Amino acid sequence: MEKRYTVITYGCQMNVHESEKIAGILEEMGYVRGGEEDAQIIVFNTCCIRENAENHAFGNIGALKKRKKEDPDLLICVGGCMMQEKGMPEEIKRKFPFVDVVFGTHNLYELRHLIEMKQAGRKKILIDIHDKEGEIIEGENPSRTSYPNAWVNINYGCNNFCTYCIVPYVRGRERSRKPEHILSEVEKLVKEGYKEITLLGQNVNSYGKDLECSMTFPELLDKVASIEGEFRLRFMTSHPKDFNEELVKVIAKHDKIPNLIHLPVQSGSDRILSAMNRRYTSGEYLAKVKMLRFYLPDAELTSDIIVGFPGETDEDFEATMRLVKEVDFASAFTFVYSKRKGTKAAEMENQVPEEIQKKRIMSLIELVNAQTRAKSEKYLGKEVTILCEDYDTKKGMYLGRDEYGRMGYFKSDRNRIGDWIRLKITDCSGISLYGEEV
Ligand code: 5AD
Ligand code: SF4
Repeated sequence: MEKRYTVITYGCQMNVHESEKIAGILEEMGYVRGGEEDAQIIVFNTCCIRENAENHAFGNIGALKKRKKEDPDLLICVGGCMMQEKGMPEEIKRKFPFVDVVFGTHNLYELRHLIEMKQAGRKKILIDIHDKEGEIIEGENPSRTSYPNAWVNINYGCNNFCTYCIVPYVRGRERSRKPEHILSEVEKLVKEGYKEITLLGQNVNSYGKDLECSMTFPELLDKVASIEGEFRLRFMTSHPKDFNEELVKVIAKHDKIPNLIHLPVQSGSDRILSAMNRRYTSGEYLAKVKMLRFYLPDAELTSDIIVGFPGETDEDFEATMRLVKEVDFASAFTFVYSKRKGTKAAEMENQVPEEIQKKRIMSLIELVNAQTRAKSEKYLGKEVTILCEDYDTKKGMYLGRDEYGRMGYFKSDRNRIGDWIRLKITDCSGISLYGEEV
């Protein structure tokens, strides 16, 4: 009988791609992908960026207690960012003693060994966490799940220490992959038929700072975009303090690179930006947006915005609303500030009460949605090219994104995943567009 595995992922694209690496390791061990119900190995790839991500993981791990009792051979592994938090592996052991293996982000490559050790008869929970990041491991063999898109890591870790953020503590210092490894991975993926490549890093703009060979992110991007083949090249995430003209010129030079930038602003108040240690002012952010639109008048921006950071007043929040209006983001991820143990902001006074945070996030979401809807309406009657990426069974429609990341839906009687589709937009609802193939 086939042995099955499932990986349950929380959090960002970095984690989605790391789950593909976990899947690759399990497939090399002879397991095949399955659902949670019939899996013999369940791996949780956790996230700790906000408290609710942690609560989801706790809830879902806890829910396996009964099943593990009935089926002691079921193997439960817990890894990811949460496990790199101080004291968390011990908390898992205390709360969920039925878990088999706990591993971290810095020793994912050891997962096979850990599983085999556990299977060799170790009775107790096996915990193995590396406190510090090691050398970058090359030669991984991810089992990719997001065709026609492929994720490609370019750098790991973060040195920025924004005061609200736990990432630098759980992901370690910045490390860049060597350009030759990135280029050969992308070349291989394009040859295999992937149509969209997304370069990943916590802060892609600091790519190369730690390398012996000198290479900046714009130089790397230029080289990747020069690889032959028909593909879209995306990248995330850019830090506004490092976002510069050299990068915009590379974007302008290559048709393969969409004129869409994810540029998290976090707040529109200079006082809050300074308390967040973002190292730019709202004026500097707006100047960079202006520079981008000077070279690329049709460029769109998306963002991450936090409300309710410690000490945020009504005036600070109003400054965020003003900035959102001024930039006119195509869309934005909006978050309520979540206190993370060990970060500087967790120690700050004037934590904002929950009711105020809620009120602010509702107003912000309303504004962002209104801007998104207005942009959707501008699509009506126009033609766009989308890259078909999935089928929505509920809607009975295929879907894909245009270069600005807009989701377009259409009907087809054959599998179109991986095809470039020219759509005439006939309808829209919120962020979604509906159209007919032309
Ligand atoms: N609370 C709320 N949002 C956070 N982010 C990071 N840390 C926190 C936190 N403690 C958001 C930021 C970041 C995105 C990935 O998550 O907006 O850009
Ligand atoms: Fe967190 Fe700031 Fe680093 Fe982004 S740049 S991962 S928000 S510390």
